[in-house]
Amino acid sequence: MASGKHSIFLFCYILCFTLTNFALNFRPVLAQKPVFACDVSGNPGLNNFSFCDASLDVKTRVDDLVNRLTLQEKIGFLVDGSKGVSRLGIPNYEWWSEALHGVSNTGPGTKFASPIPSATSFPQVLLTGATFNESLFKSIGKVVSTEARAMYNVGLAGLTFWSPNVNIFRDPRWGRGQETPGEDPVLSSKYGAAYVRGLQQRDDGDKDKLKVGACCKHYTAYDVDNWKGIQRYTFNAVVTQQDLDDTYQPPFKSCVIDGNVASVMCSYNQVNGKPTCGDPDLLAGVIRGQWKLNGYISSDCDSLKEMFNSQKYTKTPEETAALAIKSGLDLNCGSFLSDHTQAAIDGGLLNETDVNKAISNNFAMLMRLGFFDGDPSKQLYGNLGPKDVCTSENQEFAREVAQQGIVLLKNTKGSLPLSPTAIKSLAVIGPNANVTKTMIGNYEGVPCKYTTPLQGLTASVATVYQPGCADISCGTAQVDEAKKVAAAADAVVLIMGSDQSIETESKDRVDITLPGQQSILVSAVANVSKGPVILVIMSGGGMDVQFAKDDPKVTSILWVGFPGEAGGAAIADVIFGNYNPSMLSFSHKFWKNMFGKVN
Ligand SMILES: *[C@@H]1O[C@H](CO)[C@@H](O)[C@H](O)[C@H]1NC(C)=O
Ligand SMILES: *[C@@H]1O[C@H](CO)[C@@H](O)[C@H](O)[C@H]1NC(C)=O
Ligand SMILES: *[C@@H]1O[C@H](CO)[C@@H](O)[C@H](O)[C@H]1NC(C)=O
Ligand SMILES: *[C@@H]1O[C@H](CO)[C@@H](O)[C@H](O)[C@H]1NC(C)=O
Ligand SMILES: *[C@@H]1O[C@H](CO)[C@@H](O)[C@H](O)[C@H]1NC(C)=O
Repeated sequence: MASGKHSIFLFCYILCFTLTNFALNFRPVLAQKPVFACDVSGNPGLNNFSFCDASLDVKTRVDDLVNRLTLQEKIGFLVDGSKGVSRLGIPNYEWWSEALHGVSNTGPGTKFASPIPSATSFPQVLLTGATFNESLFKSIGKVVSTEARAMYNVGLAGLTFWSPNVNIFRDPRWGRGQETPGEDPVLSSKYGAAYVRGLQQRDDGDKDKLKVGACCKHYTAYDVDNWKGIQRYTFNAVVTQQDLDDTYQPPFKSCVIDGNVASVMCSYNQVNGKPTCGDPDLLAGVIRGQWKLNGYISSDCDSLKEMFNSQKYTKTPEETAALAIKSGLDLNCGSFLSDHTQAAIDGGLLNETDVNKAISNNFAMLMRLGFFDGDPSKQLYGNLGPKDVCTSENQEFAREVAQQGIVLLKNTKGSLPLSPTAIKSLAVIGPNANVTKTMIGNYEGVPCKYTTPLQGLTASVATVYQPGCADISCGTAQVDEAKKVAAAADAVVLIMGSDQSIETESKDRVDITLPGQQSILVSAVANVSKGPVILVIMSGGGMDVQFAKDDPKVTSILWVGFPGEAGGAAIADVIFGNYNPSMLSFSHKFWKNMFGKVN
């Protein structure tokens, strides 16, 4: 009896232990629920609200919701960290997530953690632009939105992603040029619309609903961050109407008209003396009036604060709040509108109807994203999860994008491709030869894994590695050490360029030559080499490498941008001839394929 009791106890102990362990092991996953409204499972009363009724049209639902809110509650929906209303079953929502070239954690709406600690990191956008491949732009967006929805489903991301950046990269010193598809308005327009379609379009073809919401930014004429102390927060871009129409506006227009983008974000700078987020002609007039945006207009983060504090454009903060909303702004990244809208209304500068208009645009977007349709697991894309992120196909695709983007700038006869069987020893030299994070640029996430250039090359041949510089700024090049390994090798690959310490957000360059003594290192190494010398420029923006073009000892030059998580593999693919890179001179047929006509 005693022993029988004991075994029952033991049995229960083991069972309970197993069940508890089971529950504990699964708790992290179960706890990570997506954020959504109209969760009728816990609150059947929500079934009574029209705004929760997915069978009604968006406008009816939005009007119903707006009518139920107090003014104070409405004001909470004017900012990116929107305040929920629990009596209506609406949770807090963070609008700000980023997905410039892969899901990114640079906005507060996205985190990498179990069960999705990483996502596919594609090349930085300027390299992707260099593929000139419109279907590729869309395919990248599609992979990114699948991984984004998977992250949303486990509570790690939002539904609104403030990408792409389609500003025209007119000034090559701009630190953020790397984020854009480049300087050409036609290519940037094609890129913007295609990437947006890839992010937003649903596989069921429902045009009114979106997979995730994209945002084309930063509207408009923005390509200076901080150049010799000239700051984007106060910069006034003086632009003629013709230049605006021909150069700066086309990508935004294409995003709205061809891409049906969910959002446009106004910039920090002024255009012709007016802050873009407070210019009714640019916002209500052009974006909503002429282009008929079906979505919301957001401010850049804290740009209303900058408009008031740095630009001193209005006398009071209430005037800035009123001006922005009356100009057509719907959502403020930051807290300016939650802080000052009530006072603006009390002061008679704004009325509740103005606020209703703005939040209606925001709610309509969330409705189109399924946020008010209850349990996301019962909706399209509800089955996406960890298994759909960092798949081998997605990682292979990141490598393919880098291959297609890499540009061959110079190739002397007999130089590239190198033969992996003929080369017995390869000297790999340069401050970017053994880098990881440098390859993914800014507005990055946590990549699935990295293949460094050194790893990529070492997979094919024996290598000897010398960094050649202590860091990317290369104050004093380690010329002697580098010359020694170069002189002894059959071929040399020099991997030079920049990283975020040289060019990034808030940091423009003052020249476009290689940093520090990098060019001295290149020339000295080339001079003692007996075989091919391949100069690889890994950078965000363009670099002036005229010295290397003119040096007959530098036999090949490749530009590889910031090539993404698989960059090293793609560089090796090109160097060893597994992939045939594009050249700077495009054929007539190429342009015909790309744009359908050739002038
Ligand atoms: C829904 O509304 C009806 C009619 O107003 C009411 O009788 C019912 O109790 C409500 N249901 C819930 C669950 O609140
Ligand atoms: C564009 O990219 C796709 C991969 O998505 C590839 O199959 C196709 O060949 C590329 N087009 C050109 C013209 O290179
Ligand atoms: C609110 O202000 C707008 C102008 O911004 C005006 O058209 C509208 O009539 C006003 N509404 C009310 C209810 O005062
Ligand atoms: C490359 O960098 C990694 C990480 O910084 C380091 O562990 C490794 O030793 C480096 N490789 C070589 C060959 O120096
Ligand atoms: C190249 O080598 C020659 C001969 O050793 C030397 O005179 C010259 O200064 C070197 N040039 C560079 C750029 O190092």
